[in-house]
Amino acid sequence: MGTTRCDCKNLSFLGLRSYAQRHGISDIQELIRQTGCCTGCGTCRPHLEEFLRTGKLKVGDQSIQIPDWDVRDLSLSRLRMKRRQDRN
Ligand code: FES
Repeated sequence: MGTTRCDCKNLSFLGLRSYAQRHGISDIQELIRQTGCCTGCGTCRPHLEEFLRTGKLKVGDQSIQIPDWDVRDLSLSRLRMKRRQDRN
C-alpha cells in the first residue's frame, strides 16, 4: 500500500512534491496528469493528498513531518556525490 510512494508507478511522494514545486503545480489533478501517479490501484492518492496538504508522511503508525528543505537538500547531496565521483 502506498503511504510514502505510488508503488504502481514507482514514484515517491517526496519526488512528486519536488516535481510539483519545480513546475508550479498546486492541483493534484494536474500532478496526476503530468506524472501518471495515482493512476494504478489508486490506494496511494489519499496519502499523497494528505502529504501535499500537511507535509506529513505516514510511516507505519507514525506521522513524520518532512520540511520543504529536505527535498532540496537531498538533491544537493546527490549533486555533490556526483561531482565527487566525476573528479575521481
Ligand atoms: S500505489 Fe499509486 S496507483 Fe497504486
